[in-house]
Amino acid sequence: MKKIAVLISGSGSNLEAIINSCAENNINGEIMCVISNIPDAYGLKRAKKYNLRTKVINHMDFLNREEFDLTIEEYLDKLNIDLIVLAGFMRILGKKITKKYFGKMINLHPSLLPLYPGLDTHKKVILNKDKLHGISIHYVSPLLDSGPLIAQGVIKVRKEDIEKLINRIHKIEHLLLPEVIAHICNENIRLENNNVSFKNIKNLTNNMIINNYDL
Ligand code: GRF
Repeated sequence: MKKIAVLISGSGSNLEAIINSCAENNINGEIMCVISNIPDAYGLKRAKKYNLRTKVINHMDFLNREEFDLTIEEYLDKLNIDLIVLAGFMRILGKKITKKYFGKMINLHPSLLPLYPGLDTHKKVILNKDKLHGISIHYVSPLLDSGPLIAQGVIKVRKEDIEKLINRIHKIEHLLLPEVIAHICNENIRLENNNVSFKNIKNLTNNMIINNYDL
């Protein structure tokens, strides 16, 4: 069983999707800890409901980014973590920590990267009248939202308000993120010399999983 750490900043709905997937034995892994940089993040309540170990590492308590990153690093290393999942974790991690865990740390981003790295992705999709929107899951590298892509989930943009769009994006996040984690824990997905390597996975396009969702 792989040892998983989940880093959050907010509601933790993706965390809960991962928890459920582990409980259903779809993921051959165990969540060893949930780390939040926000002390009152709702995700911490969800984690406690399932008796998971939680840890607040509040970025406001540190003089600089390096010390914040180092504290996360030391905590993760104590637990011998195999896979670090950034699931709605809203702090940028620095070069040292991202290099150290390159190939071991994945991020969920709500856009079809390389489109719209950073914030406000849903607004940008609507403003630009994009026909498609979606999510990306990628290995974390020192460059923001730019590491090797593992998977994308795609939906058609309808004439709908932004809340509905965000809601649909959440739904596909809750499907695709656990799916990717399951493949990584089974060692069907891994990073080899900067390239994502896939084993026993059929729906590959341009060397990544692309799932189209009709919901
Ligand atoms: C997700 O939509 C993720 O893509 C974005 O933040 C949101 C986190 O949601 N970066 P939750 O905390 O998992 O509910």
